[in-house]
Amino acid sequence: MSVEDGRAYLQSAYPIIYPIVLERAKGIEIWDVDGNKYLDFFSGFGVINYGHSHPKIVNAVKEQMEKIAHIGMIYYNVPALELAKKLAEIAPGDLKKTYYANSGTEAVEGAIKLAKKYSVKVQGKTGAYVIAFDFAFHGRGALTLTLTHERKYKRHLGHFANYPGVVHLPSPYCFRFPGDVETCKNYTLEKVDEYVRYHLGSENVAAIIMEPVMGEGGIIVPPDGWLKELEKIARENDVLLIMDEVQSGFGRTGKIFAHEWEDVRADIMTMGKALGAGLPLAGTMTTEEVDKAWEPGDHNVTFSGNPVACAAGLAGIEVMLEEKLHENAHKVGEFIMKKLRDSALPAIGEVRGRGLFIGIELVKDGKKPDPELTKKVKEGMFKRGYIIGTGGMFGNVVRIEPPLTVTMDQADKMTDDLIEVIKSS
Ligand SMILES: Cc1ncc(COP(=O)(O)O)c(C=O)c1O
Repeated sequence: MSVEDGRAYLQSAYPIIYPIVLERAKGIEIWDVDGNKYLDFFSGFGVINYGHSHPKIVNAVKEQMEKIAHIGMIYYNVPALELAKKLAEIAPGDLKKTYYANSGTEAVEGAIKLAKKYSVKVQGKTGAYVIAFDFAFHGRGALTLTLTHERKYKRHLGHFANYPGVVHLPSPYCFRFPGDVETCKNYTLEKVDEYVRYHLGSENVAAIIMEPVMGEGGIIVPPDGWLKELEKIARENDVLLIMDEVQSGFGRTGKIFAHEWEDVRADIMTMGKALGAGLPLAGTMTTEEVDKAWEPGDHNVTFSGNPVACAAGLAGIEVMLEEKLHENAHKVGEFIMKKLRDSALPAIGEVRGRGLFIGIELVKDGKKPDPELTKKVKEGMFKRGYIIGTGGMFGNVVRIEPPLTVTMDQADKMTDDLIEVIKSS
């Protein structure tokens, strides 16, 4: 199979950036069909938290495949229950009950549907509005694309990304805020409070949805205390708080879930990416209280609770806990970020992130976004055998999201190479 086959037989929607055909992978190493080796510092969009082809996960999939591959959620099945129980053990706050989906997009759709139903049926509100944030990414379906902020994802789609009742408010992207961090924090929180209370009316707001670390938007970490204050606004106004942990969950930020950094209690949490440890699996968790809104048959998809995906997910969580991968993410992530900050390169406007969810914002002439340099850096790193990501509204953020199994030596070498590539690009 070749790149030409890809161009001939796959639809043009795919953002193929790297002209290679991949064949196999182990740990953080990937090989293409021509035998070239790459180091994966992007984990397939932040999915492979537990390393490629981890033997425990591979075995769990093989064993489950031999037992039963699919049945559908008109029965319970063993892996779906085992995983749900494990999720209830590791999830923060009062999150206890799981619904399974196939993708992060579907998980977010399900979360909004549940929030609206709770708001109308249980709280007796109109459920008309959902608040999301500038720079947010919540998926590419009709509702989720509406929640996603950036216009680049919504071009030439008519009213496809125009779901009613979605309101975007300024996000705490303090690097680009015209003022200091404290002012940025206060201003963005005041806007939420103002909108909930006065512009929309709390009786009309079903939920606030926020990524605890905004991934696609450029690895934006809200300032200390911001999420906790957001929770307070939600609580004071009886508005549900949805934490979108699709990208930030399962150890990526150094905690099992990113909103644990601020000890936030979410009403609904969305999960995806690493949940299936490489298989397509996503979902939502909610509290016993919010779950009251559902009636049997209200929500389901064909592949929900797929036993093989759930078996992989359970094995993945066990690997994370046994190998303390979230702790490794914290340690290695801090190391990478410190080294990049210490390099004091003028082209690095900001290094930010938590754990192994790292963004490096590249700039020129002070703070102007430098997407051209970012592209060159990605190409330069690829020439040295690294796969990295880029993102941010201006396309000027280098994203480093390796499997959480990455060693200090591998991280050290990559960081040296990255600094050299930025210098020479
Ligand atoms: C925070 C967040 N939510 C939702 C999604 C959508 O997930 P998926 O691509 O699996 O549909 C993503 C994907 O990047 C994401 O980062």
